[in-house]
This record gives sequence, structure tokens and C-alpha cells, in this order.
Amino acid sequence: MKTLVVYYSLEGNTEYVANKIKEKTGADVLKLVPQKAYPNKGFGKFFFGGGSSVIGETRELEPYEVCLDEYERVILGFPVWAARITPPLRMFIEENKSKLVNKNLIAYACQSGNGAEKAFAKLAEGIGVDGFEKTAVFLDPKSKHTEEKDKQIEEFCEILK
Ligand SMILES: Cc1cc2nc3c(=O)[nH]c(=O)nc-3n(C[C@H](O)[C@H](O)[C@H](O)COP(=O)(O)O)c2cc1C
Repeated sequence: MKTLVVYYSLEGNTEYVANKIKEKTGADVLKLVPQKAYPNKGFGKFFFGGGSSVIGETRELEPYEVCLDEYERVILGFPVWAARITPPLRMFIEENKSKLVNKNLIAYACQSGNGAEKAFAKLAEGIGVDGFEKTAVFLDPKSKHTEEKDKQIEEFCEILK
């Protein structure tokens, strides 16, 4: 099934999973880059990103080129921010939801603790679907890397083949 992974990542964890999916399954990858970057350290990291997520902001993206008609399956990847999806992914959803509703949709989240289930529900609601074919949650798979976490990603990739 022709597959596209669309993701946003602030600190590389979500990107790490996206790259593994690409490597293991041959999926195409689209990285979302906000025009105004979020701070990735200090107080501002949680204050601005968390606040922006809670109020449901979108954030303008750097121009991207993708033809969603080419893909049967779309995998949406994001870091959990304040138990929500991140504004760059929300922007992509706003811009493309009419093309996403009829796809085979999968979502994965990276987080440090919890909140992913709530974020998946919000993401499905934002797209206008009841849920996802599959979801997966990874706990800081790059910044707190273990062999066990790599294995979990590999098992996820197996299902996608
Ligand atoms: C603004 C902000 C809010 C966060 N909120 C949560 C949260 O609600 N629950 C959680 O488990 N982790 C939370 N985290 C941690 C990240 O989701 C986690 O470290 C994730 O793996 C980062 O992915 P990334 O490296 O792709 O950005 C938050 C991180 C940031 C920067």
C-alpha cells in the first residue's frame, strides 16, 4: 500500500520513528516545518509550545509539496504537547482534511509520560473520522533510547508492510 508519513518533531523523537518507518517499509516522508520555530530549550520550550497547543493554535508551515491522491495510507506522527497534537500538524490537517478522510489513517505519538490517547481522539475529531486503523505510542524513543524501544518501532513497521 503506497504510504506517506507526515510528521512534526521538535526534538527528534518523532523524526526518529518516521525515519525508521521509511527505512523499514519504503514509505515516503513529509516533514512539517513551521515558519516560526518553537523554542527547543529552557522555560520557553514548555511555555510556548504547551500554551499554543492548549489554545488549539495552528501555525503557518514552510511550503511543502505533496500529492495526497497518490497515497492510500497516511501515517500522522507528532509529539504530545499538553495531551494534544502539535500546532504544525493541526495546520496540515486544516489544509488537507478533505483529502485525508477517505484514506487508511494511522497515527503515532511520541511522549514522555501520558496524554497520547486524548491527543489521538482530538486528532480524529479534527480530521472528521471516528478513529484510526492503528495507533502507536513511543516513549522518547531517541532521547531516552533503548534496544527495547527500537524493537517496538520495528514491530510497528512489520504491521505496516
Ligand atoms: C511543549 C511540550 C509539551 C509536552 N507535553 C507533554 C505531555 O502532555 N505529555 C507527555 O507525555 N509528554 C509531553 N511532552 C514531551 C514530548 O511529547 C516528548 O518528549 C516527545 O518524545 C518529543 O518528541 P519530539 O522529539 O519529536 O519533539 C511535551 C513536550 C513539550 C516540548
